[in-house]
Formats: sequence, structure tokens, C-alpha cells
Amino acid sequence: MKLVEIIEGKAKILIPDPAQFSREGKFDPAWSPVFYNPRMTFNRDVSVIAVSIISPSSVLDAMSATGIRGIRYALESNVKDEIIFNDKNPISIEIISKNVKNNGLVNSKVVKSDANSLMHQVKVEYTDLDPFGSPAPFLFAGISSLRRRGYLGVTATDLSALEGKSKTSSIRKYGASGGKLSFSREAGLRVLLAKIAREAAVQEKGIKPLVSFYNDYYYRLFVRMDDGAKKADATLEKLGTLYECEACGYSFMSQDNCIKKCPYCSGNVRRFGPAWTGELNDQEFLDKMKERIPSFSYLPNIGRASKLIESLIAENKYELYYRTDVLSSKMKINMPTMEFMINCLGNAVRTHFDPRGFKTSRSISEVRECIKAGSTNLQT
Ligand SMILES: C[S@@+](CC[C@H](N)C(=O)[O-])C[C@H]1O[C@@H](n2cnc3c(N)ncnc32)[C@H](O)[C@@H]1O
Repeated sequence: MKLVEIIEGKAKILIPDPAQFSREGKFDPAWSPVFYNPRMTFNRDVSVIAVSIISPSSVLDAMSATGIRGIRYALESNVKDEIIFNDKNPISIEIISKNVKNNGLVNSKVVKSDANSLMHQVKVEYTDLDPFGSPAPFLFAGISSLRRRGYLGVTATDLSALEGKSKTSSIRKYGASGGKLSFSREAGLRVLLAKIAREAAVQEKGIKPLVSFYNDYYYRLFVRMDDGAKKADATLEKLGTLYECEACGYSFMSQDNCIKKCPYCSGNVRRFGPAWTGELNDQEFLDKMKERIPSFSYLPNIGRASKLIESLIAENKYELYYRTDVLSSKMKINMPTMEFMINCLGNAVRTHFDPRGFKTSRSISEVRECIKAGSTNLQT
């Protein structure tokens, strides 16, 4: 197998030559014997910044593939001590070993094991879960691999299960029922956090989301574990249900899981959950990420990363987002521009989840007034 070198962040990584595994001029990273996806570079860049703030003493890169994540953490994220690289694929293990050596890592171990089995045997400060598709089968063991007050990083690409598009897999993987809501991209992230919270609670741990976001076709999040049954109980109190009124579009979260009518217009509501109803991000952690941006100026994606962090900071004080297209179609009027909506509401921001979405602390009647005013503006 021919290997080629790519450079990402401060790492030089050997990957199987994509040209050898292309089909009819096309290439999908899943066709390669060892997985490397350049579309995940942004995920890794933001993760490197987040891990640099955690500055863990020990790291488990539970699904390493080429080893790129763990190697980047070692070179760019102030890891104090050991990094364990793991993959069940024997060809990965050969490539990880070469990459670890070529990048001069000294305190590292390369293991070939099933991730769940290994995660029940080790204790580290930070574990990274980056599977194909759903992280659900790995969450329990991932949490169990952590020392007291440890940290978990998770990628999820199974958006149709998380957002409620595929109802059967939502129930199977996340115990989530109901269906897809207009703010489905935020709903998916909240369903994933709820699942992590329940897996943590079984192990008498609470969770604190530090940074969590949607991008492209995946979710990425970091949570801190807070040990103790009381912390677990307090975390479970943050689980609830997401609602959207079919008539007026009012969207809200509640610990009451049996609401049938909209508190604003008494229309029928649609629901989805269980879902996390607490904050998606920790303000202090986001501020630290923002402060760190200048030290990562060498990353080609740093402008995008900075924009994302700014957006998460601006969005953090608001609850669920609304979509201008959905509300105006319910009202059977033309869709106003986003710029008009933000100015009209005054207390509102765009959301990174969706270019058609905004978050606001204004009431649904004020939102509808602005939609109406914006629509009239378009017509004159
Ligand atoms: C999406 S890739 C990881 C990508 C890598 N973290 C990166 O940033 O480039 C998923 C990897 O998990 C490995 N894998 C899948 N199931 C596993 C399991 N049960 N135990 C260990 N490794 C597993 C696959 O072999 C594959 O290399």
C-alpha cells in the first residue's frame, strides 16, 4: 500500500494514497483501508483549541484511524503526559505507529483493541470518541474511562437519528421519541447531550457541557464530568422535552413531558425528547477559547474557528432558534430578510445552526409582528 504525507496543523501524517482507492475518479474516505477525512479538519482544529484549555494529563484517542487527532493534541494542545492511541483495525495500528514515531512523540502507547473493551480498563483525564456514525454504543464505556472530573469529546454524524428524521433509530440509539422539529439541528445536539447525561448518571456523574456545536454534517461537543450522585441528580433535572406549536410556531423546552397545547395560542404542539434543556456552552470556556485564537494563527481555518466561537458566545444566553422560512410560511406571508428580523427584534442573533435561523429573547408575538412587518417591507 502506497502512503502519502499530508500536513494538518503541526502534524505530518502518512495516509493511504487516495489515488489507489478511488473509483471512477471519485474518492470517499470510507473506501480507504485507513480512514482520513480532510472534511473533518475543522472539527480537529476546534478540538485542538478546546483540548489546549483542558490541558489534560492523559488522553485516550479511542478511535485513532491514522492517529491524527491524538498526534495533534500532543503537538498543539498542552497534553501534560501520556497519549494512548487505539483502533481495532490492524492496518491502522501500523500507520499510527509510523505517524507517532515520525512526529517525535515520546510518551505514547499504541493499542489494538475494541474501544469499549479498552475504555473499561483504562483511566485517563480526557477521552476522545470519533466513531463512524453514532457515538451511542461507546458513550457508557467512554465515561467509564475517565478519572474524577474527567472530560469527554464526542463527534456524531448520525444526524437523522439525532434530529428525529429517522424515528426508529432515534428511539433505538437515543431513546428519543416524537419527531423532527423546525429547529432540528439544535434538537439533535440536545438529544445527544441528554443521552450522555443519562449514561453519566448511571455512573453517578453529572455533566457540564463546555462547548458544543453543529457543522457541515456532524455535531462535536466537549463535556466535563462532575462526580457524585447529587451532581448526577442535578444533571437529570436538566432533561426535558422540546416543543413546537403547529399553529403559531412557538418553540420551547420544558421539564413537563406531557404538554399537548401551546401556552401561547392553544394550538397543538409537536414534541421531541428527552433532550438537554440546560446551556449548550460554558461562557468561561468559550471566553478562554476566544483568548487562545491568536496562538493558533498558523491554522488555515482559524478565521472560521474564530467566527464559530464568536457565534457560540453570542447565542449562549438564548434558548431555541426560530426559522424565518417556517414562521412566514405558517403565517402565509413572504419571508423577511434575516437582517430585517435581527434589527426589528433588537434582542436577537443569527444562529450557527442554520442560516435561516435566529435566536431571541423576544416573545413569539413580537417575533410574529416582526415577520409581518418584514414581509410588508418586501412588498412595498
Ligand atoms: C471516523 S474514524 C476515526 C477518525 C480519526 N479519529 C480522525 O480524526 O481522523 C473511526 C475509526 O474507528 C475505528 N473503530 C470503529 N469501531 C471501533 C471499535 N469498536 N473499537 C476500536 N476502533 C473502532 C475504525 O477502524 C476507524 O479507524
